[in-house]
Amino acid sequence: MNIQTLLNQRVQAAMVAAGAPETAPAVVRQSAKVQFGDYQANGVMGVAKQLKTNPRELATKVLEHLDLSDLAEKVEIAGPGFINIFLKDTWLGSEIKALRSSERLHIEEVAAPETVVVDYSSPNLAKEMHVGHLRSTVIGDAVVRTLEFLGHSVVRQNHVGDWGTQFGMLLAYMERLRAEQTEISMALSDLETFYRAAKTCFDDDAEFAVRARELVVALQSGDEECLALWDEFINISLTHCEETYQMLGVSLERQHVMPESAYNDDLQNVVTELEEQGLLQESAGAKCVFMEEFANKDGEITPVIVQKTGGGFLYATTDLAAVRFRQHTLGADRVLYFVDARQSLHFQQIFTLSRKAGFVKEQTMLEHMPFGTVMGSDGKPFKTRSGGVAKLSDLLTEAQQRAYTLVAEKNPDMSEEELRNIGRVVGIASVKYADLSKNRTSDYVFNWDSMLSFEGNTAPYLLYAYSRVASIAKRAGIDVSALESGVNINTEQERALAVKLCQFEEAVQSVANDGMPHFLCAYLYELAGTFMTFYEACPILNAEDDIKNSRLQLALNTASTLQLGLSLLGIETLERM
Ligand code: ARG
Repeated sequence: MNIQTLLNQRVQAAMVAAGAPETAPAVVRQSAKVQFGDYQANGVMGVAKQLKTNPRELATKVLEHLDLSDLAEKVEIAGPGFINIFLKDTWLGSEIKALRSSERLHIEEVAAPETVVVDYSSPNLAKEMHVGHLRSTVIGDAVVRTLEFLGHSVVRQNHVGDWGTQFGMLLAYMERLRAEQTEISMALSDLETFYRAAKTCFDDDAEFAVRARELVVALQSGDEECLALWDEFINISLTHCEETYQMLGVSLERQHVMPESAYNDDLQNVVTELEEQGLLQESAGAKCVFMEEFANKDGEITPVIVQKTGGGFLYATTDLAAVRFRQHTLGADRVLYFVDARQSLHFQQIFTLSRKAGFVKEQTMLEHMPFGTVMGSDGKPFKTRSGGVAKLSDLLTEAQQRAYTLVAEKNPDMSEEELRNIGRVVGIASVKYADLSKNRTSDYVFNWDSMLSFEGNTAPYLLYAYSRVASIAKRAGIDVSALESGVNINTEQERALAVKLCQFEEAVQSVANDGMPHFLCAYLYELAGTFMTFYEACPILNAEDDIKNSRLQLALNTASTLQLGLSLLGIETLERM
């Protein structure tokens, strides 16, 4: 049940009945303070201004048409024309009861599912995945899971970079190793080292550099031997990515890989079509699109270059082909791109040009979901202690190790096997959650101590809270799933918890709509805090049967909500830690 949506509909209907235009929004929000009720409708002021009437008078009229008696015990006008809504305790109790009856916690699938194409992770295969890929991979996956949960049809697209001049150098190095009878798969076990070695040859050895360039040409003209070599490289590199996905618990698989090279045959068509539409212009031998939208204050336009002087195509050309494919073959209603904020201009240009060229339907949404950089404590992009880029797989191994040490200290009696498992879950969850809980658009500092802390908005705190709440039900010693009795809201703390539980769907929907998992993280953190306050004030297991059964249901709901919420974020829970 999404209370916000329900109230929006009701208030809006009342506003229209009171003379407001159909399009006037009711602007229902959760209230910031208890004295303003549980929800506030703030739309009246805007409409009153538009209609040039007194907002309080308009609000009074709206109330005459607003019947919320089924769910609210009080509706009042405050200040210049806010409408404060106070939910009924009995209604909250019955909502909690309803939540209990469904595994989906009463969140219905959307009535009109959309086809949502999500471009995420998308590393370059020439190198190892590094910390910079964490954000796209983890945030993208949380949004994908949430969209699927809500009933949308999601198409994952891992737009990996598997093409470009750097592959000439890598293939030349593979050739050399082969000639020296070195085991290639061994050499490729660490792509970072491999890349560096190849680069050194390229820089220091003129003959090697010539061969590397030859191989680029051979690759592009479809030379079979060269393609076989390239295939081998790509395959190994993708296997490395998949190991990282598995460690991370990310739902990307081989079938979701739609590499840059897949669009090669279509790139000329893209250019021809732009040409036919009169959108192209030559500039210093390159084919470019100049769009007024991208002029700076001096009127200079940053062009989109779609073909280089020598005939080569670019990153942008591939992205234009990808837009067409996503529209026409995948049938996208929405396309979401989880890509670094530094590529914002690129995407704005691709989107604008795709519309001008008719590559997408008018109603199709193209949305860049930019994210900030992971920083080190020195305020620069995060590096390893030795100053290199931090390999994602190394980072995840370290996280598990650190978490293991922490948990082992707290639980000296636990078996080694259980400790390892808890270390794995907590370590991975900590890295993911630290990323997911930050506002996507800002940079954040990567800090082991804060992400592994048991206090604050962290994975260890939430996982621990979950295991504690879940254990209460077990300790009750009754079959809680069969509890028939009602949920009665009598105390302030029960009420606060009930309201919070009813707001889960709102948090879930904001992840799907805005691609911002940190809203859900903040919600879960607040929920855990609200529960702790409730648990301190309202004893459960020692209370009389009626009260005990009612409170147990609140506790169970909290556990289910935490678990479902974390699973939408792609985070495993533990029954014991
Ligand atoms: N491979 C690119 C990079 O590492 C990201 C690709 C993002 N997706 C896209 N359609 N351009 O920067």
